[in-house]
Amino acid sequence: MNLDIEYLKEVVNKAGKILIEFYKKNITINYKGPRDLVTEADTTVEKFLKENLKKQFPDVPFIGEEEGLKEQFDTCFIVDPLDGTTNFAHHYPAYCVSLGYIESKDIKFGVVYDPLRKEMFWAKKGKGAYLNKHKITVSKQRELKKSLLATGFPYSDLVMPRILNYFNHIIPHCQGIRRGGSAALDLSYTACARFDGFFELGLKPWDVSAGILLVREAGGVVTNLEGNESTPFDGEYVATNGYIHQEILEIIKKSEINFPLFSEYFKKVLNDN
Ligand code: IPD
Ligand code: CA
Ligand code: CA
Repeated sequence: MNLDIEYLKEVVNKAGKILIEFYKKNITINYKGPRDLVTEADTTVEKFLKENLKKQFPDVPFIGEEEGLKEQFDTCFIVDPLDGTTNFAHHYPAYCVSLGYIESKDIKFGVVYDPLRKEMFWAKKGKGAYLNKHKITVSKQRELKKSLLATGFPYSDLVMPRILNYFNHIIPHCQGIRRGGSAALDLSYTACARFDGFFELGLKPWDVSAGILLVREAGGVVTNLEGNESTPFDGEYVATNGYIHQEILEIIKKSEINFPLFSEYFKKVLNDN
């Protein structure tokens, strides 16, 4: 399909403006799980994006986080109306809108918009990645010990001990690990070299569909934990500038052997399941 990219960027920009309006006032917060929030902003922006995309692209199915994944499509839009909901609800200024377009299982277009900084990260398959009007590339850092990485902690208590174990094993080998609270921004920052790499588990297609394309089009590598090229439906990711990729995969692999559980809470959760 011949995508009208300017239209998509415009719609995402307007979605970002709606987020800012909600950010300025006291909003209603509901709970999907003990740590998993949803606000009026998430649902309003998803509705806005769905209506606008349906108007312009009536034949393309729409998947949004709040409606959830009811059906798999080879061609569709995948939208996270607000990535970084916990940040947003606490007025921690790191959140964005993320939109990916997948055609025949291939990510063709992705846009991540941070409305507070007016930073629009976007990529078109085969045409490179951009921050606003400027082309971006991944970092050139070849040494893990000089690398700044990002990660995230999923809402699921079943996945949490694994990611904490990776964190524990990777941190002595790098310069630092940030936990920004928005996987879409973490991937965008990896694409524009603010981070040298990113790893996380338990992610959903709306968190990563745009970000995966951004990193690849910026010259980076995105795989699953086994090192195979990953799709937005895999859930587990290592995304880097390419140079430090193998070393991270190896640390992760080694750390899987008999990983210790330091927390009594997680020991109980895993036991009960
Ligand atoms: C979350 C963020 C966070 C990541 C979580 C995601 P949400 O998305 O991307 O960084 O660690 O796994 O679920 O709930 O803010 O849209
Ligand atoms: Ca998300
Ligand atoms: Ca979200």
